[in-house]
Amino acid sequence: MTKTDKTKQLVGEEVVDYIKDGMKVGLGSGSTMYYMIKKLGDRVKEGLDIEGVPTSNTTAEWAKEFGVPLTDFSKVQELDLAIDGADEVDPNLQLIKGGGGALVREKIVAASAKSFYVIVDESKMVTYLGNFLLPIEVLPFGWEVTANKISDFGCEPKIRKSKGEPFITDNGNYILDCNFEKIAEPKKLHEELKSLVGVVETGLFINMARKVMVGKDEKVDVIDQ
Ligand code: A5P
Repeated sequence: MTKTDKTKQLVGEEVVDYIKDGMKVGLGSGSTMYYMIKKLGDRVKEGLDIEGVPTSNTTAEWAKEFGVPLTDFSKVQELDLAIDGADEVDPNLQLIKGGGGALVREKIVAASAKSFYVIVDESKMVTYLGNFLLPIEVLPFGWEVTANKISDFGCEPKIRKSKGEPFITDNGNYILDCNFEKIAEPKKLHEELKSLVGVVETGLFINMARKVMVGKDEKVDVIDQ
C-alpha cells in the first residue's frame, strides 16, 4: 500500500466515528470512500443501525460487499450526514469533485444532507482551485456545441474517454474535463457555466462542505467551516 493510500485509509476510517445510530448517510465515491465504507461495514456488523444512499454504482457495490444497508430518495428525503472525497479543496473549503465521474449524484446527495463532510489526503489542499481539470457533466446531444461555449470561459474542454470511447456517467451523460488552471472566482464560474444549455452540472462544490478532514502522515487535521 502506498503512503497516500495509507493516509486515505486513516482519514476514511476516522470519519466513521461521526456516524451515529439511526442516521441516514450519503456515501460518496472514490478510493478514500472505499476505506470509509469498509470500516462502516465493520461498525454495522457490530450493531450500528444506519442506512446509506450511494452516489455511484461502484459505491453501491462496495456497500453491498461490506454489508452496509442502502436506501434511496424514494424513501428518504433528508440525510443526516453526507461524506465524500474531493479532488481539490481551497482555503474557503470550496471543492473540485468529479475525478471519478460521479459529480451529479455526489452533489445531489451532499445538497440533501444536513451536514457534508469531506475526507482527503493533504495532496488535495490547494491555494487556488483549477490545477485539477474541472469536470463538467454535459448532455451527449450537441456536446460539441456545449464544449465550444464552455471554451469561451478560458479553457480547452476535453471529452473524457474510456477505452477510446466517450466515458458515460451513471446518468448516461458525458464529462468534459476543463483546464482552467487557476479559478479566481469559483462561485461566479460555477453559476455562469451552469447557465449554459447542455450543462448538467459542474464539479465546483460551492459553500457545501461543513467540515474537511485532511489526512497527513499519521494524523488527521479537521477544518470546520
Ligand atoms: C468522484 O467523482 C470524485 O469526486 C471523488 O470524490 C474524488 O475523485 C476523490 O477521489 P479519491 O478519494 O479516489 O482521491
